[in-house]
Amino acid sequence: MQWIFIVNYLSLHPGVGGDNLAFSDDFIYQLQLANPIDDVMKSYVNLIRRGRNFVCSCPFHSEKTPSCTIYLDTQSFYCFGCGAGGDVITFIRKIENLDYVEAIKLLAERAGLEVPSDKQGEQNARIKARILEINREAAAFFYKSLISDPSKSGLKYFASRGLAPQTIKKYGLGYADDSWDKLTKHLLSLKFKEDELVTAGVCLHKNGKTFDLFRNRAMFPIMDLRGNIIGFGGRILGDGTPKYLNTADTPVFKKSRNLFSLNFAKNSTSNRLILAEGYMDVIAINQAGFDNVVATLGTALTPEQARLISQYAKEVIIAYDSDGAGQKATTKAINLLSAVAVTTRIINMKGSKDPDEYIRKFGAARFKLLLDNSDGAINFELEKCKEGLDLSTDIGKVECLKRIVKVLSQIHNTLERDVYISKVARSYEVSAEVLKSQVENEISKTIRKEKKNSWKSIVTKPRFKDEINPEVSQYPRESKAEEGIIAYLLQHPDMVKRVLDCITPDHFVTSFNKRIFTVLCEKLNSSTNFTLSLLSDEFSDNEMGRITGIEAKHKDIFLTEQVVDDYIKILHDFKNNKLSDNINSDEDLLKLAKRLKNIK
Ligand code: CTP
Ligand code: MN
Repeated sequence: MQWIFIVNYLSLHPGVGGDNLAFSDDFIYQLQLANPIDDVMKSYVNLIRRGRNFVCSCPFHSEKTPSCTIYLDTQSFYCFGCGAGGDVITFIRKIENLDYVEAIKLLAERAGLEVPSDKQGEQNARIKARILEINREAAAFFYKSLISDPSKSGLKYFASRGLAPQTIKKYGLGYADDSWDKLTKHLLSLKFKEDELVTAGVCLHKNGKTFDLFRNRAMFPIMDLRGNIIGFGGRILGDGTPKYLNTADTPVFKKSRNLFSLNFAKNSTSNRLILAEGYMDVIAINQAGFDNVVATLGTALTPEQARLISQYAKEVIIAYDSDGAGQKATTKAINLLSAVAVTTRIINMKGSKDPDEYIRKFGAARFKLLLDNSDGAINFELEKCKEGLDLSTDIGKVECLKRIVKVLSQIHNTLERDVYISKVARSYEVSAEVLKSQVENEISKTIRKEKKNSWKSIVTKPRFKDEINPEVSQYPRESKAEEGIIAYLLQHPDMVKRVLDCITPDHFVTSFNKRIFTVLCEKLNSSTNFTLSLLSDEFSDNEMGRITGIEAKHKDIFLTEQVVDDYIKILHDFKNNKLSDNINSDEDLLKLAKRLKNIK
């Protein structure tokens, strides 16, 4: 099939993948020295100097006031808003969505360092290459079924949606019939193994049987920027649920990170992108002559996708469905895109539910008109304020202006804000001065609230549903002591011997903190140069966030030896109490007395 061109993933990405590969501590130390965290982060976010540190708007959640701090002394970052944090490797892992080894490679390349050879990485690269081969074969199989299936169900469906043969070819569309294992059998005959098919996400394994995931569906292959097929979306033919079924995340596919049709849109000469909701919308818009269109893959736009978009376009035209859900998603997309400095315009498809339907009803020329007359994001939000209100009454007008003040308060650029304030003042016949002072009040209110919320989230998050250390709520006092000891060691690496004289990992109550303590002491003992980066192959990036969080929360607390001794005592007491619960005999009592004596 000439329309699917596959670049050998292996040759482009030698040795991708692989957690827990043992790079030497010395290499990690070199790597970290060669990649100062502020230097690396400033190519992604705008850093603002604050005292000895930097702050920035957190790239991992959307926010208006910067709550992410970059600590130069510990070469770490921590966001007080969302809890993201870690060392420079964690940062790259998160922002580029790479695994540990890939992140190391990127940083090594950036600094011109040579990476020690890597067996695990090669193994992972082989798995990824196999998955891409499986996907390519599956797509070819779906395409062949589309053309040759005697019922012609797939072709009829695409024809009913107005797709031309060239479009079907361009997107490599296909058809999965309702058999349980045709594709599975075909792929097995090509010498792929069952577990590979399951890892690729095209097959399921249940009750000892392997069978096809996609049945009775129109198939949409999803390609990456190089044209590799990384996954599929399948739409049910006729009614049934789910309407769309997408490949789950696999080693080559992360739906929060990819955009459908970006492989075509990236070559567009237009400097703006059209963002639609669904596969069919994208394909219809593309067929109508606009190659600069993409869609998210069955989810709301993510911060990662917004960042991806910002690499290709300065402006996005949002063409979401005109229903309530679509409009809500539009507001969310406006915010996420504005956080990465992409301006937005919104089209208004009055009378049609989505771009696909609009183009079918009114044609490409009218759609172009719609694009050219798309409204700025602010006008879109201002218009929305009127919803459900009777503006001929004073009450309605006041309520509407209250909503408008909220919208205006979100405009960052003061000049732009002023322009809209005058415009609103004119059309609602109110004083521009009064409106302006209301908007400024609202702005200070939001800043105060965000500050408070970011603190609240630190305090409340762990209590709610703490996925990283679920035992915190059960042992609040002990986990606090544990975190104090960990923070103390991070601040005073040379005190590890003294601490270990008083306490062992066994005294730790919560297993996550116990793990940190164990690894930390091991690294502190074995490496002459300790850096946080030495932990990042042992912990996931969320876990690194927590470790940096523990450190950040103790930054301004002066942890003296005395304070740490108190923490240590808390853990000893806990253990002793537990022991005393188990006293059943005189012998137990004697043992306990002996232990207590030893501790003292
Ligand atoms: N979607 C999904 N799972 C569903 C419903 C929708 O993943 N159960 C995703 C698909 O990517 C779909 C998009 O959300 O393309 C938009 O959904 P919807 O508006 O319901 O579908 P349409 O694109 O209008 O689909 P169609 O025109 O084929 O009915
Ligand atoms: Mn539709």
